[in-house]
Amino acid sequence: MLCQLLLCATATAQIRSGELWPDDNGQHINAHGGGILKYGDTYYWFGEHKSDHTSDALVGVTCYSSKDLVNWHNCGTALSVSDERGSDIERGCILERPKVIYNPVTKRFCMWFHLELKGRGYNAARYGVAVARRPEGPYQFLYSQRANPGTWPVEFLTERAVAAPLKADTKAVLDTLDAAHFRESWTPAWLKAVGEGLFVKRDFGTGQMSRDMTLYVDDDGRAYHIFSSEENLTLHIAELTNDYLHHTGRYTRVAPAGHNEAPAIFKHEGTYWMITSGCTGWAPNEARMFSAPSIWGPWTQHPNPCRGPKQELTFGGQSTYILTLDAPLTTVKSRYIFMADIWRPRHPSDARYIWLPIEFEDGKPVVRWRDTWDVK
Ligand code: DGJ
Repeated sequence: MLCQLLLCATATAQIRSGELWPDDNGQHINAHGGGILKYGDTYYWFGEHKSDHTSDALVGVTCYSSKDLVNWHNCGTALSVSDERGSDIERGCILERPKVIYNPVTKRFCMWFHLELKGRGYNAARYGVAVARRPEGPYQFLYSQRANPGTWPVEFLTERAVAAPLKADTKAVLDTLDAAHFRESWTPAWLKAVGEGLFVKRDFGTGQMSRDMTLYVDDDGRAYHIFSSEENLTLHIAELTNDYLHHTGRYTRVAPAGHNEAPAIFKHEGTYWMITSGCTGWAPNEARMFSAPSIWGPWTQHPNPCRGPKQELTFGGQSTYILTLDAPLTTVKSRYIFMADIWRPRHPSDARYIWLPIEFEDGKPVVRWRDTWDVK
């Protein structure tokens, strides 16, 4: 109790990445792999509830609210796991990286997340969707599945229409690809085949794998689901229907065979910027950065944007979300906050948060470590 009071007393208007971050009850915020929704004048932080000894989902998705991004009120569980045996979101499943967007047409809050069915490790590779009438929930689980069954990426097609025929040269390459032909992974020939669509073809009928993810709403209101697919080797960007509850079937591949996880995206002066990580489980690795003139690409890779101690390990964290503010912060003159998780797989609930402003140098985003900074 004394400890909780002390933590509470240290709550200021400053962000302190890597430290305990007490909520309004003095408890370390439990919203990992999360993202932020601004609705009205309030920010809502959604994330994975992590337990002390397992990363399996025993509670669900938590929600916190704040007016200033520093002091957070615990709103409780937004989406609860289920006690029904066989439910897709049965307690003990893996439920990661939840993100929420608001649909102004249906007036519903739409939550998407990475879902792994209970007892099946990371094999299911699905996304899940839930919906609510209020930002803090309760969210009603709708469905989970793999992505875009029976449809090819737009760049494989003669036109950008979902049912357009395959380009002749793409069809010729796909005809040669067969996952059963490769006894060894990670050979140059295998990586080339993955880049050409080995797993897209393998999973065409059942749907594409869908793991680490984020959501992005563009200026025109069109929303996108961005996720690690193809055995985590290739990112997919999939367009959402007008109600933000399904894929339209139009999607594109980013960095084929590039092995990216943890996508986080923002748009600055017409250019889309995406920061990702490599794939090393819970261990940190060097952040990657991409840009594109359109959400549909072409996407170009840039050097690591991180600057400071452990910059080659994303300061010990892994990206989860980039928050775009309505107006630039006066202290650091940035409109974007890079958010990452410092995972603690042996004590998952003790995982920490990295929040840092994104600055621009020579026209490119830079994430500079700061022990503390003022979010005003
Ligand atoms: C890295 C992912 O980014 C996390 O969300 C989680 O799935 C871990 N891998 C599991 O090892």
